[in-house]
Amino acid sequence: MNFTIKSGNPEKQRAACVVVGIFESNRLSVAAKSIDAASKKYLGNILKRGDITGKIGQSLLLHNVPGTSSSRLLLVGCGKEKELDGSHYRKIVANAINKLKLTSATEAVSYLAELNVKTPGKESKDDYWKLKQFVEISQNALYEFNQFKTRNKRPKNKLRKLVLMVSDRKQVATGERAIKDGIAIGNGVSLARDLANLPPNICTPSYLAERAKKLGKSQKSVKVTVLNEAAMEKLGMGSLLSVSQGSRQPAKLISMEYKGGKKGEKPFVLVGKGVTFDTGGISIKPSAAMDEMKYDMCGAASVFGAIKAVSEMGLPINVVGVVPTVENMPDGEATRPGDIYTSMSGQTIEVLNTDAEGRLILCDALTFSEKFNPATIIDIATLTGSCVIALGKHASGLLSNNDSLAKDILDAGETAGDRAWQLPLWDEYQHQIDSPFADMANIGGREAGTITAACFLSRFTKKFKWAHVDIAGTAWLTGKNKGATGRPVPMLVQYLLDRCE
Ligand code: BES
Ligand code: MN
Ligand code: ZN
Repeated sequence: MNFTIKSGNPEKQRAACVVVGIFESNRLSVAAKSIDAASKKYLGNILKRGDITGKIGQSLLLHNVPGTSSSRLLLVGCGKEKELDGSHYRKIVANAINKLKLTSATEAVSYLAELNVKTPGKESKDDYWKLKQFVEISQNALYEFNQFKTRNKRPKNKLRKLVLMVSDRKQVATGERAIKDGIAIGNGVSLARDLANLPPNICTPSYLAERAKKLGKSQKSVKVTVLNEAAMEKLGMGSLLSVSQGSRQPAKLISMEYKGGKKGEKPFVLVGKGVTFDTGGISIKPSAAMDEMKYDMCGAASVFGAIKAVSEMGLPINVVGVVPTVENMPDGEATRPGDIYTSMSGQTIEVLNTDAEGRLILCDALTFSEKFNPATIIDIATLTGSCVIALGKHASGLLSNNDSLAKDILDAGETAGDRAWQLPLWDEYQHQIDSPFADMANIGGREAGTITAACFLSRFTKKFKWAHVDIAGTAWLTGKNKGATGRPVPMLVQYLLDRCE
């Protein structure tokens, strides 16, 4: 997609389609007013017929509006003007793009970024935010994954060019920066979605390792190293290796070091769970919807996406992506419930349920990450079904041993429209993972499953400012819109962008 910034009157735009907003009870946005005047109230008269009332989700496509130079005019419902906030804006833009996809217009000129978007208790959103969001939302809405179709392989949508209008010529430079950042984030999100949507017979740990190397080749600022099982054995990663031992696919530990900051400056470390397929192992899962466990590497995919985005943006900080990746299968050599393994930290773990495997690979990856001397460390994982029960698909779960880090992440999610919600990590929960035979058990019973999983990880991150993001509910959608969402790439990249100031 080609994005450009311009300013000018909507009736004068020579384009396949011009997009303007309509508020509830048919109040016109600034751009719509301008068209109404140029068309001698043609717009006002059409609106009186009531085919659109301005509610969010509505739209109306008009052709050859008198007094205008474009062949189509798309009216987009924007809800109540006073209530227009960030989340409404996101819905409005997504709706506009989805409606554009249904036309055969190859190019559109949008006035939606001129809307006044409110933030409760703060100033209205600036042009940079509105334009960057516009770019991210359109890339997301235009995303297609059809590489495994033999027919209809060609992209369905015809849209090739989007012109984003700003009300003031002075805003063009800001707009161009917003486009550049928006595209980088959109590319990161698309990479995460692509990797996650791949079938699990293709997207194996070795495949992810190859993709990381490819990323390292295409981005000069990213250095990639991959450890094989022998190297992990030497480091004492008994916990991680206990998960891959029942699979024919060897485990890999990927590091992607992005160097944009000063030499020796502490990096921000992202650790992503990369279980390329989670059968549950010997504690095998029920078969219904088990295919979705190909998405158990979405944490890893988000780390790939974030590294791609920050390297494309050239952020002046250091970031390291660490991806422990395995396949969790049951076979004659698989872990038995009751087995005890020694982690790289030296702490022993009694594996009571082989389906609680994410924490087993993450704990060794977290200990491994100590060597980077992190400024902060954030792990991202599709870790617990209970997180889906607690927060559904709208918020990722957030737990941290440092409240100011947690706040930075929550704020980043709010800004990016990719929110998290914090759960407590109180000591009171720790005893749920006590084991009579080892230093800890890998499960903590039915109660507070998301918290006890984080309690487990907290025992491996005492030396750092650490946060854990549980994306079990947010990383992919089920049902008729089944597919990876690319979350929480926008939140992670926003967190990193905020560290650059
Ligand atoms: N990958 C799953 C978590 C999951 C389940 C994410 C469903 C999204 C949807 C994880 O490895 C797992 O199986 N967790 C168990 C932990 C339990 C055995 C303590 C779970 O949540 O049931
Ligand atoms: Mn599992
Ligand atoms: Zn899992």
